[in-house]
Formats: sequence, C-alpha cells, structure tokens
Amino acid sequence: MAKAPIAVIGAGLMGHAIAQVFAVAGHDVAITDSVAASVDSASERIAASLKDMGDDPSAIVRVTPQRELAAAVRDADYVVEAVSENLALKQSLFAEVEKHVRPDTILASNTSVIPITDIMGGLKHRERALGTHWWNPPTLVPLVEVIGTQWTSPQAIDFTMKLHAAIGKKPAHVKKDVPGFIGNRLQHALWREAVSLVERGICDAETVDTVIKAAFGRRLAVLGPLENADLVGTDLTLAIHRTVLPDIEHRPGPSPYLERLVKDGKLGFKSGEGFRTWSEEEKIALRARVVAHLKKARADDDNETM
Ligand SMILES: NC(=O)c1ccc[n+]([C@@H]2O[C@H](COP(=O)([O-])OP(=O)(O)OC[C@H]3O[C@@H](n4cnc5c(N)ncnc54)[C@H](O)[C@@H]3O)[C@@H](O)[C@H]2O)c1
Repeated sequence: MAKAPIAVIGAGLMGHAIAQVFAVAGHDVAITDSVAASVDSASERIAASLKDMGDDPSAIVRVTPQRELAAAVRDADYVVEAVSENLALKQSLFAEVEKHVRPDTILASNTSVIPITDIMGGLKHRERALGTHWWNPPTLVPLVEVIGTQWTSPQAIDFTMKLHAAIGKKPAHVKKDVPGFIGNRLQHALWREAVSLVERGICDAETVDTVIKAAFGRRLAVLGPLENADLVGTDLTLAIHRTVLPDIEHRPGPSPYLERLVKDGKLGFKSGEGFRTWSEEEKIALRARVVAHLKKARADDDNETM
C-alpha cells in the first residue's frame, strides 16, 4: 500500500521528532515552521536524532523542509500541527491550511490540553479534523492519543488510528473531547495528590517520588490500574476507596502550595529550585536517566516484536 504523504507544521521539539518517526516508517514528510532558521535546521536536527536513536540514517531523504506553508501541505493526505500551545494561533493556522489542502485531507493538532473542538470548530470541513496527542520524546514514547470531536467522521478516526499503528505507535482512541484527554487527566490526578502530600506535611517531595518509583511505578509499565483492580479484586478496591477517597485531595483548582512556588519564582529546573533544589549536574543526570530508561524500554519492545 502506498504510504500517505505527511505534512508537519512546527519544527520545534515535537514537530521535528514527529516528522522523524513518519520518515523512518517510510512516509514522505514535508516540514515547515514560521521561523526560517527552524526550517533550515530541521534536516540537521533530524539526522542527529536518527543517529542518536540508532534509526536508519537514510530516512532523512524522505524529509523535505519547506519555508512556505502552502507548499508544505499542498500534496499531503495528512497534516499534523505542532506549533506553540496557543489557541488563536492554532485556529488561524488551520483556517489558512484549509485553503491549500483537499477537502478530505486529515487535519490533526498535537495540542497538549486545548480542546480540539475549540481549535477546529471554525473549519469548513470539520469532519476531517481531530487531535493526535504525542508524548515527549515522540521517537521513544509509544502512545498517541487520537481525539475526535462531535464532528469528526468515523473514517477520519479509523484512518488516523491505522496510520499511527502502522508507524509503530500505540494509538488510543479518546471518544470525548475532554480537557487533558486521557493521559494528562490520569497523570495530573496523581500529581495533585503528590503536591497535597507535601503541602500537608505528610512527607517531603523526594519521598513522594521515591514511593512512586520504588513501589507501584515499578509495575505501571506492565500493569495498568484497572488491570490491577481486577487482579486484587473489585471488592477490595471498593473497600480501599471507601477508606481512602474521603481523605484524598479533591479541591477543584491548583494547590495554593504550587501557586506559592510559582509566585516566589521557584520554577523547578528553570530557576534551580521548585519542589526540590537542582544543581546543573543533577539536572543533566535526571534527563539522562529518563532518556536511557526510555531507550531501553523501546529496545525491549523491539526485541519482543522481532
Ligand atoms: N513539549 C512537550 O512535551 C509536548 C508534549 C505533547 C504535546 N506538545 C504540544 O506540541 C506543540 C508543540 O510543542 P513543542 O514543545 O514542540 O514547542 P516548540 O516551541 O519546541 O515548537 C513550536 C514550533 O512552532 C513554531 N511556530 C510558531 N508559530 C508557527 C506558525 N504560525 N506556523 C508554523 N510554525 C510556527 C515555532 O517557531 C516553533 O519552532 C504544542 O501544542 C505543545 O503543547 C508538547
């Protein structure tokens, strides 16, 4: 089967790596950005990343950087946007893209949290518009959430699910366009309680992270919470919820403790202090540990499918 031509708009952290994944899988990919220097450096950055990931270096021949948006999207069957997280920007960008593509070209946004309905509501052909939420780094994290709106056609969802499965990703269909989709809702439910434990003086920040990493974090990659609930029994899960849920954090807004950190300029890695303090060496070491862990997980996945 012919591989659909792809266009990626936004050649930043996410966009250049999304282009790389499609190119490695054999798709021709046009990539564009409003900053000419980002377009001009895209091939170099992708080539370096191909080398770092141990992926086929010849995939770079399938990547075509384009300074003009119209030229980038004109021949695409599938356009994915990874520009800055700004609703007005994304709305005006898709309005412009629609002028240059066929009515059935699929249009996808890689927004982290903005409802797809808000981004795509003004389009002429809303039935071909959806969200695809990749996780960072796109070359190493398998999940792509595929989010439909009330207008998205089943054909567009089906095409997008199959497209991402065929490039080696794990697509997950999000049937309702809710803020945070699935992954970020789950992640931030955990983070809310993590902040609350520190705020209430139950433990310090380092201990929260140790408890997760040394306990259920060890199992999470192979045992999801609902598999786990079935494994221990739904009756036991109900009993635990009756005891624990009334005391778990459930305020509707952000924690005042978190708001205070931000107000005091304690922005984490950016300022050297957040929930904890970070030296330059510690920042480099943590980033390296995460990448090494994700590379090993990808290698394990590859070995399993061989
Ligand atoms: N960084 C992450 O971990 C992550 C994870 C998942 C989703 N996302 C989402 O992906 C999107 C991109 O994030 P990023 O981290 O790659 O940002 P980034 O800042 O690294 O890249 C954004 C790129 O968009 C370009 N851009 C801005 N306006 C444009 C326009 N009108 N036309 C073309 N290009 C334009 C910028 O020049 C920049 O190169 C955002 O919506 C973000 O929320 C990010």
